[in-house]
Amino acid sequence: MNTTAPARDLEGRAEIEQLVNRFYTRVRADEVLGFIFDEVAKTNWDTHLPKMYAFWETVMFRSGGYTGNPLAAHAKLVPLTTMGRAQFDHWLSLFRETVDELFTGPKAGHIKNCAADMANVIYARINDVPDPRFDPANLTPEQKARYAQYRAAAE
Ligand code: HEM
Repeated sequence: MNTTAPARDLEGRAEIEQLVNRFYTRVRADEVLGFIFDEVAKTNWDTHLPKMYAFWETVMFRSGGYTGNPLAAHAKLVPLTTMGRAQFDHWLSLFRETVDELFTGPKAGHIKNCAADMANVIYARINDVPDPRFDPANLTPEQKARYAQYRAAAE
């Protein structure tokens, strides 16, 4: 097994594209998630991949110009397939593994935290369940510090 940590961090669009391509290659080959894209949603990969480059570039670097609606895109799937905690946890573990395979550093840590927060919110909202991790009273000190930074950047 290759245990050498990758030496570089996510710097911009090129690394985002590499991460997204590698992640969805894994997702499509995955028993739990692949069919949700290829059979349930019948995803058009020629449009989905560029949309995801834009999404992550917007989240990470405030460029990218993503203007979609992630909640609606996932809510549509709820009547068609199980979009439960197990599916989101599995999605997150594939995402984290892909990031760790390719990158190391503060941006790599940040994108994994963002993905985890969004998975919690999307899961809770589309299934209409209160998720304790989404309750402001239960934020970890790391999340509180990070959200304060977002507020400062937006002001
Ligand atoms: C169980 C986990 C998940 C599954 C099965 C899933 C599946 C899907 C599917 C099928 C689509 C629609 C693709 C198409 O257009 O055909 C989609 C769109 C999308 N997903 Fe997910 N997803 C999951 C979790 C997440 C998470 C945690 C995030 C964010 C961190 C995310 C971000 C997005 C975004 C940004 C879009 C595009 C929405 C738009 O149309 O603007 N997904 N996802």
